[in-house]
Amino acid sequence: MLDILQAPTPPPTRPRAETWSRQLLHWSGIILVTTVWVSAALFGLYILAFYASALYQDDMTRWNQVLPRLYERNTGTATTGIGLHFAAGGIILILGSLQLIDSVRVRFPAVHRWVGRVYVAACVFAAVGGLAFILMKGTIGGSTMNVGFGLYGLLMLVAAIATYRYAVVGDMARHRAWALRLYALAIGSWLYRIEYGFWVMFTNGLGHTKTFDGWFDQFMAFFFYLPNLLVVDVFVRASRRHVAPIARIAGSLVLLAATTFLIVGTYYFTLYYWGPAIINWATGAPQGRLGQ
Ligand code: HEM
Repeated sequence: MLDILQAPTPPPTRPRAETWSRQLLHWSGIILVTTVWVSAALFGLYILAFYASALYQDDMTRWNQVLPRLYERNTGTATTGIGLHFAAGGIILILGSLQLIDSVRVRFPAVHRWVGRVYVAACVFAAVGGLAFILMKGTIGGSTMNVGFGLYGLLMLVAAIATYRYAVVGDMARHRAWALRLYALAIGSWLYRIEYGFWVMFTNGLGHTKTFDGWFDQFMAFFFYLPNLLVVDVFVRASRRHVAPIARIAGSLVLLAATTFLIVGTYYFTLYYWGPAIINWATGAPQGRLGQ
């Protein structure tokens, strides 16, 4: 299924450890990507349910329940920028993992191309909308967060353009590498919430302030996307070389541990944040308070 995540095809005769470790890595990758997809799609639905329903019901002050200042009557352009970025962000999270499914790419190449165009356009809108907001109003956390989020937006823009460009010129190896970088960046926004959730749960919010300028907040302004890019680069390099079965087994265990971590995070976020907002939206009930 997800052969974008796999090493090149092995020779026909190989020892059992070789076959077994390849299978284990393959399935660990599939389980991780499926978990990311379900969890990121829930976050995407939450964004659309919570922010779009406030717009639809003409109750824009609800945008300020999680972070203050997102909506202000007198800063129309910045509000439009962040609104555009919410809509695009929701679309990215719902569509993203679909592009990694090998059977869709091979059997329905037109679907892959069209979803790809929408996905790349949504990434550009999310980045441009977020960057416009930073330039006009700045982030809640001040200069470190401005730099961290600004760099995040720029990298997403570069990765989106490179992914599209290499697909158009038919350089599939580079297209794949950039598509994985774009995916790793796009899920960063969702990972940011999950990582904060765990940090608050285990440390009671050490180094985090309401204005996002504590030492942990400053660290997190970069930590939600730079390690992801590093993981993709290690992965892309490793898949080009021959790797010993033991290294593959170790890699699989890391992927399975990450999956467990994400399942626990998704469970709590769905229970307390995303689930209630999605259910209220689906049933037409009023949205409650969701403060941090
Ligand atoms: C998949 C992509 C993205 C999604 C799903 C997303 C989602 C969100 C959401 C939901 C919020 C509102 C706060 C909350 O409810 O937690 C937010 C705020 C924000 N996002 Fe994004 N975002 C994405 C990408 C980006 C990018 C690429 C940038 C970079 C420029 C960015 C910059 C911002 C900024 C500056 C804020 C406001 C922070 C503040 O109030 O200080 N986002 N984003």
